[in-house]
Amino acid sequence: MAIVSFREVSKIYQGDTPAVNQVSLDVEEGEFLCLIGPSGCGKTTLLKMVNRLIEPTSGTIVVEGREVRKWDPIRLRRHIGYVIQQIGLFPHLTVEENMTYVLSIMGRPLSERRRKARELLEVVSLDASYLRRFPRELSGGERQRVGVARALASDPKIILMDEPFGALDQITKEQLQGELLRLHRSLRKTIVFVTHDLQEAMKLGTRIGVMRKGRMLQIGTPSELLFTPADPFVEEFLGTGGLLQTFRMFTAQEVMLRDLPVVVVGQSEGKDRAIQYSRDLGWDFFLLVDKEGRFVGAERVDGGSLPYSTVFPSTSFEEVLRRMFLASTSWVAVVDPSNGVLQGVVDFRFVCAHLQGYCLEKTSGKKL
Ligand SMILES: Nc1ncnc2c1ncn2[C@@H]1O[C@H](COP(=O)(O)OP(=O)(O)O)[C@@H](O)[C@H]1O
Ligand SMILES: [Mg+2]
Repeated sequence: MAIVSFREVSKIYQGDTPAVNQVSLDVEEGEFLCLIGPSGCGKTTLLKMVNRLIEPTSGTIVVEGREVRKWDPIRLRRHIGYVIQQIGLFPHLTVEENMTYVLSIMGRPLSERRRKARELLEVVSLDASYLRRFPRELSGGERQRVGVARALASDPKIILMDEPFGALDQITKEQLQGELLRLHRSLRKTIVFVTHDLQEAMKLGTRIGVMRKGRMLQIGTPSELLFTPADPFVEEFLGTGGLLQTFRMFTAQEVMLRDLPVVVVGQSEGKDRAIQYSRDLGWDFFLLVDKEGRFVGAERVDGGSLPYSTVFPSTSFEEVLRRMFLASTSWVAVVDPSNGVLQGVVDFRFVCAHLQGYCLEKTSGKKL
C-alpha cells in the first residue's frame, strides 16, 4: 500500500508557471524513492508539500491514509523525518540536544532522551564523545550524520531528504550513502530522497522519479529508466552516465567466464582440448597456470605470447574496463588475491551480452 500519494498536485507560487505541475505519484511503504531532475524543476517544492512546509495550489496529498490537510501541520512534521543540506542543526544546542529536540518538545523525560541520544549516535556510527559537542565543532560529514540521527529520533515511518549530502566531498558522500543504504535495509523506513546527482540516485534508489519543469516524466527502477525510457529527456538524462553507473555496480566475479581453456605449464596433455575450446569461444589464445592453478600468462593458439592483465573477483567492471584499455586487450584474467589462483576471465564481448540480458530480465522485476 502507498504510504504517500499525490493526486494531480500542482503548486503555483506566482504568475502562471507551476513549480509543480499535475504530479500524481505513489510512494510505496519501505521503498527508497529518489527524485531527480535539473535545478529548479520542483523537487524541493514537491518534497515540502508532504510535510506541509508548502501547501499545494491544487490536488490532494495523502500521508498514511489521511489527507495532509486533515493533519495538524506541527504533528505531521514531527511524524515525518526531514533532513536537509545546510541549516539543519541548531547552533546553540549540543549534539545530544539537537538529536532529541523533537522528543523534548513532545515532553519526553530526560532519561528517555539521554538513552535515545546514545542509541541514535550508534545508528549513525558516532561515539558518545560527540554528545556534548556543538555543531560548529563537527565536520560536514559528522553534521549530516547528526542530521540523519535527529530525523530518526521520533522513529518516523517516512524520512524526507533534500540533497542531504550535496555539500560533502566525494569520499565522505560515498561513505554516508553506504551508511544510509544500510540504515534503510535495517530500519525499513520509507525514504524520499531529492538529488540532482544521477550517480547518487542510481546507487540509492529502489525507484527513481525523473522531473523536469514541474512535471514527473517517469518513475521506475534504474534499469527501467535506462532501458525503457518513456521520454527523450529521460533517455538523455540517464544516457551515458546511467550506463557507466551500472558498470560501477558490477564486479568482475559477476560477469566472468568460469569455464576456461587452460593449460598447465610444462604439460602437453590437454592442450588440444584447450585449443578447441578456445576456438569455440571465438578466442585465439588459451590460459597458462602452474600446477597449483596460479595464473602465469596466456599463449596464442599459433604459438606466440600475448599481453594480459589481471584483476580480483571484487574489482568493479568499471576498473576492469580501465585495465583492458591500458593493456590494449578485450579480456582480463581474474585471480584470487590471496594465492593468485585463476578464477575466471572477463571477456568484453560476453559482458555486453550478459549485461543486456541481465538488465532486460530485471526490467520487469526489481532493482538492477
Ligand atoms: N518561495 C518561492 N517563491 C517563488 N518561487 C519559488 C519559491 N520556491 C521555489 N520557487 C520556484 O519554483 C521552482 C521550483 O523550485 P524548487 O522546488 O526549489 O526546485 P528544485 O528543488 O528542483 O531546484 C523554481 O522555478 C523556483 O524558482
Ligand atoms: Mg531543491
